[in-house]
Amino acid sequence: MSETASISINGKSHELPVITGSENEQAIDISKLRDVSGAITLDPGFKNTGATKSAITFLDGEQGVLRYRGYPIEQLAEKSTFLEVAYLLIYGDLPTTETLSDFRNKISRHTLIHEDMKKFFDGFPSKSHPMGQLSCLVGALSAFYPESLDPNPSEEDENLTIMKLLAKMPTIVSWIYKKSLGHPVIYPRNNLNYVHNFMNMTFGQITEDIDIDKSVVSAMHKLLILHADHEQNCSTSTVRIVGSSNANLYASISAGISALWGPLHGGANQAVIEMLENIKNDGGDSAKWLAKAKNKNDPFRLMGFGHRVYKNFDPRAKIIKKACDDVLDKLGIDDPVLEIAKELEAAALKDQYFVDRKLYPNVDFYSGIIYRALGFPTDMFTVLFALGRLPGWIAQWKEMKANKEPIGRPRQVYTGDTKRDYVPLDQR
Ligand code: ACO
Repeated sequence: MSETASISINGKSHELPVITGSENEQAIDISKLRDVSGAITLDPGFKNTGATKSAITFLDGEQGVLRYRGYPIEQLAEKSTFLEVAYLLIYGDLPTTETLSDFRNKISRHTLIHEDMKKFFDGFPSKSHPMGQLSCLVGALSAFYPESLDPNPSEEDENLTIMKLLAKMPTIVSWIYKKSLGHPVIYPRNNLNYVHNFMNMTFGQITEDIDIDKSVVSAMHKLLILHADHEQNCSTSTVRIVGSSNANLYASISAGISALWGPLHGGANQAVIEMLENIKNDGGDSAKWLAKAKNKNDPFRLMGFGHRVYKNFDPRAKIIKKACDDVLDKLGIDDPVLEIAKELEAAALKDQYFVDRKLYPNVDFYSGIIYRALGFPTDMFTVLFALGRLPGWIAQWKEMKANKEPIGRPRQVYTGDTKRDYVPLDQR
């Protein structure tokens, strides 16, 4: 017999179905709760609320497990490429040699962006934050591809929109960077692989050919793979909820980019480096900053620490910490901020405050140090996160459409004034 949960309210008892996922996660299905009882559930921050059933990413926060479509993140980060992982997330299985080559070819045909879009880049003040620009430019793609506005596209048209977005995103990201420097943009080169092409557009020069070191390209693949999906986090839930109104893919992803920008989410990678720099400039006293993070009267939080779901360790942080050592070693970089990061991590892991609250370094704690070593300025870090997260957002948007999920529309418990009559201005 299938499991049920009982709830008793206003003297009446109701049986609710219990759903079990493929990894034995249990959820009480409350979709009929209001109909039968008149009550709703209240769960600020959705700490206990499953918004959907999803077959894309599995994570177990207690055990530190993360799998894309069943494949452990450690194996994918070690053996796969970013485009292969993108295919896996979006279409459900690892591609064959033939399907991967077809996927790569199709994407390479759409890497250019409409020449008129260059005017957008020119319109931004040179110091405007890349995340604001990215969100705006991705949303603007819908203006150039109006066929993407069809809420019920054919499979072929939907795939075309997906390819265009995957193809144009690296061009947009690198052009944002080039414009911030006042440098001429570098056009995509279709003979280079996805990540190499991105690095070439970002660090290449119009005046000379630049060799991008293999180890740099490989580190970038790893970072993008580690960021590619993370089930129903803040930005992904945003993408799904915006898409549930039948908003087009570009608009939905643009909203996800805005959600990712916040320092409690993807913006933490920028905030971590800024914090480490502050600690260094302040004399490098980790204990003083740990004390600040623990002080409830101080709004400061240890950036790159803590996670809504991981309560033991973040498997991505483990891989990134190792990659960070490797990259710095290979590039011969001695970054004093890495030492501070290691000291801070060691001190926090021993500190009762962090132990009691199960606060561990998350994916953002070390990623900024690698990005910096690769030559990216701090305000580009969150944009790189968005580049990595793109296939995950697309996969989640596609799944939401395929499942024909209803429009996302949470309820509330109203706590404002009860009915009162309007008082004319001269009588108030
Ligand atoms: N520094 C100090 N204290 C912290 C930290 C931190 N980084 N994170 C959580 N806490 C404390 C809280 O103050 C709270 O303490 P209390 O129980 O005494 O009130 C307790 O730990 C629980 O924290 P919540 O904020 O309730 O946990 P939540 O799951 O809502 O937040 C979050 C998770 C937002 C990631 C939080 O840990 C945080 O702000 N971390 C710093 C920002 C960061 O690194 N974000 C990146 C997350 S990974 C990602 O999005 C890619």
